[in-house]
Amino acid sequence: MVGGRPLEGTVRISGAKNASLPALCAALLTEEPVRLTNVPEVRDIRTMGRVLTALGAAAEFRVGGVVDVHARQLTSVEAPYELVKTMRASVLVLGPVLAREGRARVSLPGGCAIGARPINLHLLALEKMGAAIDVEHGYVEAHAERLHGAEIDFDTVTVTGTENLMMAASLADGETVLRNAACEPEVGDLAELLVAMGAKIEGAGTPTLRVLGVPSLHGASHRVIPDRVETGTYIVACAIAGGEIEIHECHPAHLQPVIGKLREVGIRIEEGPDNLRVRAPRRLRAANVTTLPHPGFPTDMQAQYMALMTQAGGVSTITESIFENRYMHVAELERMGAHLRVDGRTALVTGPTPLSGAQVMATDLRASACLVLAGLAATGETIVDRVYHLDRGYYRIDEKLRGLGADIERIS
Ligand code: EPZ
Repeated sequence: MVGGRPLEGTVRISGAKNASLPALCAALLTEEPVRLTNVPEVRDIRTMGRVLTALGAAAEFRVGGVVDVHARQLTSVEAPYELVKTMRASVLVLGPVLAREGRARVSLPGGCAIGARPINLHLLALEKMGAAIDVEHGYVEAHAERLHGAEIDFDTVTVTGTENLMMAASLADGETVLRNAACEPEVGDLAELLVAMGAKIEGAGTPTLRVLGVPSLHGASHRVIPDRVETGTYIVACAIAGGEIEIHECHPAHLQPVIGKLREVGIRIEEGPDNLRVRAPRRLRAANVTTLPHPGFPTDMQAQYMALMTQAGGVSTITESIFENRYMHVAELERMGAHLRVDGRTALVTGPTPLSGAQVMATDLRASACLVLAGLAATGETIVDRVYHLDRGYYRIDEKLRGLGADIERIS
């Protein structure tokens, strides 16, 4: 890609990866077919399809983001290491398979580029619901004749932990209360699907969730919410490259923490019910941010925000409170000329600094988006290696950016 071109035109947002992944797993809770629409055609979704198939479910990917899952009968209760190691969200089959079959064998995901990311809170909570859990040979072995309701207080807010337990509790005997639950819009979207399948859930989107278990769930159709992180990424793309764009088929209400911060640094953002008009300012202002669980500023926008702050006037501090190692993009941005200093969980960004195009290496999904954004502002050519990270969660980002006038192409 070659930077320096202002963006203009319209971009359409895809469905949310982090809402589609648990929704695909929820289909394991019923013998009836579940149809999901607006599912993004990104690599992680295909990986989850392979996990479902390994369990014996039929997962059919149709054109236009339609996925039909039919778990008539599970022929296995195992999520193998080969798949889980490529995508830790595979752990989301643990709750549904255990609740449905009374046992599950799921590979431990292991660490990842952004942090240790243990699943101890998932396991502790399932034990409270009566599961016998052993961890051996790199696998979680879980058994429970039938899970029962329980009072669960999460020590830390965990998104997939909340989702796993909400799914497990939907078929449990009695009521489960989840406290300090995650309030992310993706959790609310999963609850909407589960309720459409016959589950009894209250308080989704709040820190206290109540789930009254039912004997069985039925099929349903569900449209997945738009991707708020993809939306935020395109707002930053416009602000860092200059210009004015329209973002369609997004959901501004899910993005308020990001929109609020980006307005604070000077970006003009007009909101419609499912669209945004974004205009880049002549000068960006520096502003501090701390990543927090929703409705705080999302950690999945931290790297993109850092790229933006390299072009803002002044010093900004970015504090990453969710993951202990989510600054892998810093060294690559420095190779492009950015002035950054990391001290533990806090990064200090001094701007504005002109960025120069360079060959850079992506290390994880959001770090790779950050490097693409930096490339839009840089003089000369930027080559981002390992774009497979990008393809895990962004649908055709190169084509979408080219549609907005960016000089970007995919080279094999
Ligand atoms: C989800 O991951 C998202 N992934 C992540 O998005 C996102 O960064 C994260 O939530 C935070 O918003 C999906 O939804 C598939 P957590 P998750 O459990 O659920 C600690 C992306 O870029 N923790 O909320 O795995 C954990 O280590 C991805 O799309 C425990 O200690 O994150 C972390 O510090 C990256 N024990 C914190 O809690 C546990 O059992 C929050 O993690 C669980 C979590």
